[in-house]
Amino acid sequence: MAGRSVVVGVGHYLPERVVPNSEFEKTLDTSDEWIKTRSGIERRHFAAEDETTSDLATNAAEAALADAGLTADDIDAIIVATSTADLTFPSAATMVQARLGMTKGFAFDVQAVCAGFVFALSNANALILSGQAKRVLVIGAETFSRIMDWTDRSTCVLFGDGAGALVLELQEGEGTSDDRGILATDLNSDGRYKDLLYVDGGVSTQSTGHLRMQGNQVFRHAVEKLTKTAETALGTAGLGNSDVDWIVPHQANIRIIQGTAKKMGLPMENVVVTVQDHGNTSAASIPLALSVGKQRGQIKQGDLIVTEAIGGGLAWGAVVLRW
Ligand code: UT7
Repeated sequence: MAGRSVVVGVGHYLPERVVPNSEFEKTLDTSDEWIKTRSGIERRHFAAEDETTSDLATNAAEAALADAGLTADDIDAIIVATSTADLTFPSAATMVQARLGMTKGFAFDVQAVCAGFVFALSNANALILSGQAKRVLVIGAETFSRIMDWTDRSTCVLFGDGAGALVLELQEGEGTSDDRGILATDLNSDGRYKDLLYVDGGVSTQSTGHLRMQGNQVFRHAVEKLTKTAETALGTAGLGNSDVDWIVPHQANIRIIQGTAKKMGLPMENVVVTVQDHGNTSAASIPLALSVGKQRGQIKQGDLIVTEAIGGGLAWGAVVLRW
């Protein structure tokens, strides 16, 4: 027998405003065709002016709790993966905690940029397996529209806002790879690559800053590192690539998603793809894809899923779980 962190609820929230690629043609030297061909993105959602990351996160959390048939009283901890919290402090997670009416337990943010949800899932799993929490709400929520340089066509057309959430619950498994729940995680970072993807401002430099990215350099790292981390996590779980029902990748670029699936020897029929509708929502992209994948009828109970993500840091990682 072994304790497992099992997904018992999933949900997401997307802001109302949908922005098609053609919007950018009005102000930038770009085209719907370029954006679609190079990234796979067709549209993205942008938060309203008065809508913040904790608003998005709370809506996604409520959807996940409803899906689980639970209330905030049933939750021991909240982790929000975000790089775009409402305030410098307190954490977005404590704001969500208050909004859900939860007065016990604990809440904190995890900041690993686009890999944030994978890092948050791994932390939640560790809390559950070490007996510090029985049920954890794990949320990825971002308002990257707030850190875009709208004059930089190489970045501002790529990102979007949104949130997704999972409820993880301690359940007993057999201790085999047939168990439901998180089966293995693999986390990595290498700070030498800071200049490839960063925000040129922050608290300690007294500004908010804008996202800066050497996209083609990040691209070069992505397929290789994502394949390796996914295969490492699968290996730790005692599984191989052919056991995977769904790759649920970070949704940054369709060419990275396709390249990784190909390198893993899996067809695109086994990949949940939402990048066309959401753009790159950083830490929100994986829980959004899990929630949409379930809604579409792609992800079913018992399916073996590998999630993988890479982003600023560089930070990257993967989680293998049985739904
Ligand atoms: O989520 C965090 C991790 N981030 C990622 O995974 C992003 C990884 N990178 C990418 O997705 C891709 O590198 C991009 C989509 C950002 C760019 O695609 P690319 O095929 O690597 O293009 P590139 O950066 O090499 O640029 C090719 C050309 C350049 O023009 P020149 O120098 O060849 O004349 C760019 O100036 O495309 C130009 N370009 C644009 N043209 C029209 C860059 N942005 C645009 C644009 N519209 N929006």
